[in-house]
Amino acid sequence: MHYTAYPDRLEIISYTIDTYSCDLKEHIREGLTAPQKYISSKYFYDAYGSTLFEKICKLPEYYLTRTELSILKESAPEIMEEFQKGDIIELGSGANWKIKILLNATDEANLSDIRYMPVDVSESALIDASEELLEVYPDLKVTGIVADFTKHLEKLPTLDNRFFTFLGSTIGNLTEKEGIHFMKNISSLMEKNDRFLLGFDMLKAKEMIERAYNDTQGVTSEFNKNSLNVVNRELNADFNPDHFDHIAFLNAEKEQIEMHLKANRDVSVEIRDLDLTIEMEKGETIHTEVSRKFTQKSIETLAEGASLKINRWFTDPRKWFSLVEFIPK
Ligand code: AVJ
Repeated sequence: MHYTAYPDRLEIISYTIDTYSCDLKEHIREGLTAPQKYISSKYFYDAYGSTLFEKICKLPEYYLTRTELSILKESAPEIMEEFQKGDIIELGSGANWKIKILLNATDEANLSDIRYMPVDVSESALIDASEELLEVYPDLKVTGIVADFTKHLEKLPTLDNRFFTFLGSTIGNLTEKEGIHFMKNISSLMEKNDRFLLGFDMLKAKEMIERAYNDTQGVTSEFNKNSLNVVNRELNADFNPDHFDHIAFLNAEKEQIEMHLKANRDVSVEIRDLDLTIEMEKGETIHTEVSRKFTQKSIETLAEGASLKINRWFTDPRKWFSLVEFIPK
């Protein structure tokens, strides 16, 4: 049990404790011995990585969060109109900015009938965000789930009348195939009155997208290199992050940003817990993230693949970002 100032209103359930370190071991071995080396982007988000990501969200170049928040503010009353009681399940919750906008647009009388269930891999981020929320909303109940949302969804202890959210274009971290698989998963959990609200970053001018992932303050670079710190700490490795350069570019054909760490010299890394030595030549990269950019068509394809119906579509005047509500067919 975790210490909390709100024992009656905050419950934390953890699904990752047993699997995290053995998954990580396998994932890192597989990724760093592949022809194109890779580290899954989920390993960015330890406590430090989560604070770096919050910093990214506030960068002038990173238009995504700002634009999504503006759409949310504008549309929250309409979004919440039909939701008076039940569970709000926020997948990949991170900070609590978005849920606050939704709760602020809710009738105060209804708040005691709503339970908020943030699902996130970072336990520290989850607890911090939840406690702050409980302070602001004295009638709200929170059940925080420490879990990998691509894996533990069937286990969610939810009731009926569920409102799933998956914001921030986090769905962009999944490949097209993984995205459809994920949507099918949610779709199979959804019942007649459930809804699913997703945030999508839309495909736009290359320069603008690339700028968002190459900020002048170097926060994204630090964030990218943090996955090496995570491997160092978790697996007793000796990566020197200074021996790698951050690169991020739009792969136009695949409609996605790709982030890599590019060795700026020949490097040899000892990963003691894996009994593994990694040799890399100067210029070789470790692929650390895909972030897909969407079009109306690719979102419709996603809906179709998961047998979901698009119910409502909210966007900003420049159509940089979309909030799309899906319901069962
Ligand atoms: C959290 C996946 C939406 O892809 O824009 C930010 C992560 N990576 N800068 C994104 C991220 C580099 C972010 N998502």
